[in-house]
Parts: sequence; structure tokens; C-alpha cells
Amino acid sequence: MIVAEIDSAIQHQLLERISDARERSDALFRLVRPAALYDRPIPERHRIIFYLGHLEAFDWNLLHEVLGAKYFHPGFDRLFAFGIDPVGGGLPSDIASDWPSLDTVRDYVGKVRSALDEKLTHKALEPHAVTRDGFSLDTLLNVAVEHRLMHLETLAYMLHQLPFDKKVRQVSAPTLTTPPVTPRMTEIPAGVATTGLSRNAGSFGWDNEFEAHQTLVPAFEIDQFMVTNRQYLDFMSAGGYETRSLWSEAAWNWKNTNGVFHPVFWKKAPSGWFYRSMFEEIPLPLDWPVYVSHAEAMAYARWARKSLPTEEEWHRAAYGTPDGIEKRYPWGNQTPDPRYGNFNFNRWDPQPVNAFLRSQSTFGVASMLGNGWEWTSTIFAPFPGFDRFSFYAGYSADFFDGKHFVMKGGSARTADCMLRPTFRNWFQPHYQYVYAGFRCVSR
Ligand code: AVJ
Ligand code: FE
Repeated sequence: MIVAEIDSAIQHQLLERISDARERSDALFRLVRPAALYDRPIPERHRIIFYLGHLEAFDWNLLHEVLGAKYFHPGFDRLFAFGIDPVGGGLPSDIASDWPSLDTVRDYVGKVRSALDEKLTHKALEPHAVTRDGFSLDTLLNVAVEHRLMHLETLAYMLHQLPFDKKVRQVSAPTLTTPPVTPRMTEIPAGVATTGLSRNAGSFGWDNEFEAHQTLVPAFEIDQFMVTNRQYLDFMSAGGYETRSLWSEAAWNWKNTNGVFHPVFWKKAPSGWFYRSMFEEIPLPLDWPVYVSHAEAMAYARWARKSLPTEEEWHRAAYGTPDGIEKRYPWGNQTPDPRYGNFNFNRWDPQPVNAFLRSQSTFGVASMLGNGWEWTSTIFAPFPGFDRFSFYAGYSADFFDGKHFVMKGGSARTADCMLRPTFRNWFQPHYQYVYAGFRCVSR
């Protein structure tokens, strides 16, 4: 019965991960003072209350049939099924009282969890057993875990925009002291970059991670560090936001219509620039990575007479070596730990770009995982051999519209399982609220 024992060990681990992720999401909602739970901190997104119901409705819609659990609140299953990602459209116009009461949503959360858990723990389930359209229960449970973990991050972006007095301050790992940053570029020789995950690997990935394929990347130079607030300030002082030629027509219109003339995380005061961190306002930390939209990153890169890296260039800089062997992480094969970067919920805010030198890639590029996602110039599109997850057909395919860009790396609020090389994130070019910055390349 060796196989059954391994199966049950894997399943046990997944159940532990679900329970850890639930604890984290509960803690995140406790951070919001109750009076603010119906607020909408980001105008384009749902109110906070939606996400409280969404995390559970998602797991329920994904798993209840497979587990044989009987539905009890189909109205909420639908109401909380999907978030929104409005591309260039109007803003949502619902009002707080359109949403169900906190008690009824909390009651739904509790019932969904116990109904699923009862099935998951008391029924003798075989995790590798085929469930929906040939997908194993393992795969579905991974989808549930990672979906919740991703929302821990997107909710953090959202709560970041909430006024400080509506949040309960949380602890962070210490701020690191580093010598002043000296920006420099490092040479990446021509070579092969492997992107994507092989179906034969047998490990979990979302639909957009498949299939594995190789690209020959010509030589280029890349910034050793992410572009800092100090560097971005130079671009602003040089009139970057006022120079038409640095912006595409769509970006210029977006910037002017919305009155964007500095990064959304910055605040101008008579005495100078300040930074709105998660829980307080502080003088602008000049050596932190600048967090900006793709459109702003592009304008900076044009001003610097450089470009954003492609997804393949980013891979080559992170995982490539002179002898052609690719590494699992930029620093080698060791699993992520806090010495290698600012990720996995250790902090709420960035650190100086030169804080984690031991994480450097073989080619000397620093902190590619954590401390802020990195925009690429690659439009989010399927890899050759892509096949949508039939049980969640829209997860990626709804965004193959030529209007979203791939981000790589991770932020302080990215769970370490999503620091795997094949994980791909994406957002619209005018979305400013993400923990994302960039580095430049020269070709
Ligand atoms: C992969 C982070 C772009 O938040 O839009 C969560 C993740 N999709 N629920 C997003 C997601 C559906 C997605 N990103
Ligand atoms: Fe979601």
C-alpha cells in the first residue's frame, strides 16, 4: 500500500496548505477595521466585502461537485464567483448597501469551509484519481491554494490604498541597511532561455505555464538592480511626465485624463516627496525600487534610451549560466528563504534594491525574485501547446487580448511557491496599484 501512503501524504500536505492560506486570508481581513469592509479602495475594483465571499465561493465552485458536497447557497456561489478587470471601460457603480450583510457573508464562509473539509478529511480520497475532465484532485487543490495566495497579494495592493486609520498596523521583518546604490549594467551573453513548464514534469502549474520551450536570446545588457526611486526622480526632474515623445498615444491620454504625474505610491508635500507605505507615510526611500505602471516604466526606459526586457531576456538573466545549464532559482537550487529576498509575506513594503546580494544570478543580476514584480515588454499570450483548464477556462484565456503585459519575479507579498521559474503574472499597462517596478536592458 506504498502508493496509497504517498497519496495520502501529498493530500495531507495540500490540506495543510489550504488551512495555512485560510489563516492568512482571515488575518488579512482582520487588518481592516470593520467599518471599512464595504469600502472600495481602488475605484476599478470590487469593494472589500466581495473578496471575503469570493475566496470561499471560488473553492466551492471548483470543488463541491467533485467532492459530492450539496449546494446550499447558489445565490452567493454566483455573486462571489468572479472579480473584475475592467479594460478601459467605466467604473463600477454599485453602492455598499447592494451587498449582503457581514453576518450572512461570514456565515457562508464558515459553512463552505466545513462542508468542503468534511468531505476532504472524512472521505477516503485518492488525490491522483481523475476528477474533472482528466484533472487530478491534486491539481484542483493546488488551484484552490494558489488562487487564495494570489488574492493575499492582490488584496494587499488594495488595502495599501486604504487610509491608515482604517487599518490595524501589522509587524514586518526589520528594514535592512545597505550602502548607497550605484546603478550599473551587466552583460548577458547570447544563449538559450527555457520558458514554460513541461507536462511531463508532473508538477503543478497554471494553464498559461505550459508547454516548455526554448528561445535563443541574443546578447544584451541588463540593470544589475531594479530602477530606484532616486533614478525615477531624475526622470521626473528632467520633465519625463511632460515629454510627449516618451509616451505612446494611449499612455499619454491615460496619464492626462487621470492627472497622473508621479508614481501612485508617492505623495508630494511642501518639504519634498513622501512615500505611502502600507501603514505610514515616510520620506521617500531613495534606494527602494520604484513601483509604477507599465506605461510609466516604458516612458522611463525611453528617456534612458533603453528598453524593458522581454520575458525570455528576463529568464536568461535570472536562470542562465555560461555553460547553458539553467538553474532553479537565480541563486541556485536552495529553496527560497528570507536571506534570498523580500518575499513570502515577511514584510509589507520594499527594501533597498541592493539588500539581498547573495541572491544574485550567475550573471550578477540582483534580487530578481521578491521586492517587487518586474514589468516585461512581452504581451501576455499563450505558449505553444497551451490548453485552457476546462474547469476554469477564463483564468488566462480571458486576458489573451493583447492588452496585458507579463510580469516576472515577485513582491514582498508573493508566496514562495509562486517563485517557481515558470509562474507568470500579468496586468494592464495603466494599472498603477501593483507592487511592480522594472529594470532596463540595452541591446
Ligand atoms: C494572475 C494576479 C493577474 O488578480 O487578476 C485571481 C489572479 N485571477 N482570481 C488577478 C486571479 C482570478 C490574477 N492575476
Ligand atoms: Fe479570484
